[in-house]
Amino acid sequence: MLGKRILLIVGGGISATKIPALIRLIRAEGAHVTPVLTAAGAEFVTPLSLSVLAGEAVHQALFDVAAEAEIGHIQLSRRADLVVVAPATADLMARMAAGLANDLASTLLLATDKPVLIAPAMNVRMWQHPATQRNLATLRGDGIALVGPDEGEMACGEYGPGRMAEPGAILDAIRAALAPVPLRLLPEAQMPRGPLAGRHVVVTSGPTHEPIDPVRYIANRSSGAQGAAIAAALRDLGARVSFVTGPAQVSPPEGVAVIAVETAQQMREAVEATLPADAAVMAAAVADWRVVNGSDSKMKKDGTGRPPALEMAENPDILAWISQAPQRPRLVVGFAAETDDVIAHASAKRARKGCDWILANDVRPDTGIMGGAENAVTLITAEGAEDWPRMTKQAVAARLAARIADALA
Ligand code: C5P
Repeated sequence: MLGKRILLIVGGGISATKIPALIRLIRAEGAHVTPVLTAAGAEFVTPLSLSVLAGEAVHQALFDVAAEAEIGHIQLSRRADLVVVAPATADLMARMAAGLANDLASTLLLATDKPVLIAPAMNVRMWQHPATQRNLATLRGDGIALVGPDEGEMACGEYGPGRMAEPGAILDAIRAALAPVPLRLLPEAQMPRGPLAGRHVVVTSGPTHEPIDPVRYIANRSSGAQGAAIAAALRDLGARVSFVTGPAQVSPPEGVAVIAVETAQQMREAVEATLPADAAVMAAAVADWRVVNGSDSKMKKDGTGRPPALEMAENPDILAWISQAPQRPRLVVGFAAETDDVIAHASAKRARKGCDWILANDVRPDTGIMGGAENAVTLITAEGAEDWPRMTKQAVAARLAARIADALA
């Protein structure tokens, strides 16, 4: 969340008193908070307390001449990475659903082009009212994310759903909303138990696509089959798996957090966002180069008969980077797809990249390994090289997952 900007709209409700704690949590993560206080919100929490904690001015009025001169409300809603409404009252939700813009908060919500997360808080009857549920369905349909409400004792003495989610839960929802794609983890209770329970493993998989223009890209023949099998095998041993995948031919397994990316640069950033992790398995076939003189519009033949000269730059090496990252996982595993002198090249690669293990395989076309169902690998560690017999990619994955579990035990 470091450096991210959160526009925090504070509605009117007793739970507005929890917002200072939320601001503290967000700022502790290194993100910026710009508070916007509705007229009703100001009945529960003072602008001064919000601005002191946020370290920024609080915006309150739609037609605040000084503020408009400095930064208009459109910009205010667009320079944020995420808009959070907490507490989101029944009235605010209704105005959002109807597209009203009759105060600063509702205007910002209508003018924004950024993701919006709401944390509803209201009396249980108001929450259960068909009008609120209708508005909620509309907001969900508009792609707005929701956290809470919780069930419990209400300030008004009634019991039921309607309490605003706790600041910690709102922070988690903010983190998820800022993640590149939604997480698809199994609920804790459905996680398989196993030797990797409580461990977090990040796995990269698939090819990357390096764009040339909006319709063309440079890619490779990796199917993503081996990476997906490894993620599934780690999950089966109870690990929490972050699966960072390029555009692969095989679907990601169920029960892992999927982060879909296209380019090597996006893959590196996505991997970094998953850290800390106990282990990393870098199975992706990352493109070594990207095009730096690509075009935002489709490139056309210019009639001269001369093709465009594509200029390339080297992509980040994710395996080498994670092997020396400040948050280096305890165990880093790489792959080496080689066509000759497999063990010598792979051993040199292990040393050069600084990873702990390399799974080396022979990808000469006659082996049928690239894109095929089977794999024949050699595990190279500091202790030496260990040939595994030819087996399915699932069997390689299961054997690797078991070795990882041993190493982390
Ligand atoms: O250097 P080479 O591409 O052969 O290395 C293969 C290993 O390095 C694989 O584990 C692959 O996932 C990883 N790699 C990477 N980032 C790159 C290139 C390769 O993580 N840019």
